[in-house]
Amino acid sequence: MSMTIKDEKLYIVMVGLPSQGKSTIAYRLQDIFKKNDIPTMIYNNGELRRKYAPSETWMSEFYNPHNAEAVDLRKQFALMNIQRAKKYLKNKGQVAVLDATNVSRSRRELIEEHLQDHPVLYIECINNDGDIVDLSIRHKVRSPEFASMSQEQAVMEFKKRIEYYRMIYNPLHVERNYILMDSLHNRIISEQIEDQLPLYSRIRDCLVTDVVKSLFLIRHTESMFNIEDRIGGDPDLTPRGRAQAEALGRFFQKKRISYIFTSEKKRTIQTAEPIRELQHDCTIVQLKEFNEINAGICEDMTYDEIQRFKPDIHSARKANKYNYAYPGGEGYASMKERIKIGIKKAFFLNQRPDNIMIIGHRAVNRMILSHFLYRREDDVPYIYVPQDKFYHIVATQDRKVFELKRYQ
Ligand code: F6P
Repeated sequence: MSMTIKDEKLYIVMVGLPSQGKSTIAYRLQDIFKKNDIPTMIYNNGELRRKYAPSETWMSEFYNPHNAEAVDLRKQFALMNIQRAKKYLKNKGQVAVLDATNVSRSRRELIEEHLQDHPVLYIECINNDGDIVDLSIRHKVRSPEFASMSQEQAVMEFKKRIEYYRMIYNPLHVERNYILMDSLHNRIISEQIEDQLPLYSRIRDCLVTDVVKSLFLIRHTESMFNIEDRIGGDPDLTPRGRAQAEALGRFFQKKRISYIFTSEKKRTIQTAEPIRELQHDCTIVQLKEFNEINAGICEDMTYDEIQRFKPDIHSARKANKYNYAYPGGEGYASMKERIKIGIKKAFFLNQRPDNIMIIGHRAVNRMILSHFLYRREDDVPYIYVPQDKFYHIVATQDRKVFELKRYQ
């Protein structure tokens, strides 16, 4: 008769190519554990490499599986972290996370050979969205490690590094306990659990929860179309809108914002620019997913013109605003999927620190709000989205906050 041993301690081993969201997930787990008084440490091989071999680690050749010297050095770093993790669990630690690619079976054999005192859970991360991987690489190469070269060279080196890891990639299969997840959509693709793992349901729940520690959801400030009550289009901000954007910049000056996600429309980008200017290191990322509802044949019209010249559209939309789609355009219901993808992209890219900023539009922000806020579909198109205030949203496993705040 086989016996399951109940253990209180756990090793979590991340698996995946660079830029697949492994560290973000490791931090998320650490965060939730720490809040629940579960001592957790993350051991990151990249940090050791940068500390002990700083002149080599930026080079893609350092990751070439045929470069015996570098392979050995990387193995030493991995072993160092394995030993540190083991020591931690021997003492006060309860969870130790090994954050590294760990893509080859031989590397995982090394881990299993040394870590036999407590169960091991592997978490393999996959993200197939090329745009997001690209943006995430561009963010990574801004680190001091790549300071000696141009951004384009650094991106090339990094992509080559990924290719080297791909050469030795061996997906999880024979391991006793593993979860394979789509790290962009926070979805579990498959899993195999043979041991009785401590914290298993909490880990699983954490992996599939959209955790937002601090989301600033802003509507673009006053645009030329706003003062005419005109919809859609790609208008500039008014002088008042520019002053509002500057006020937003001053308001957020003391918060650390690494990314501002906007739509592709000028009014959101012009709102973001003065905010970025007062930040230390902040990138504006335009996501097409956050473009305003496409009003089709009604684009550029005023609400009054629609009512007078297209009364059928006016009344049909009024009767069922959530499901109605403008001819040749969209409705709230049909925007839902793309807005969800936009949110996932923003959360994936925004690792630490935790402030996320989205500058969207009226309909877009209503859909983003409805992602966090329970509202009947019929009520979503009427959620209040002012231009002189913003929403601050916190949605973690144990805390939900919604605040509508003034910025001036
Ligand atoms: O501010 C105007 C606007 O963003 C339009 O571009 C868009 O069509 C509209 O708001 C969405 O709001 P509603 O669904 O209430 O018409």
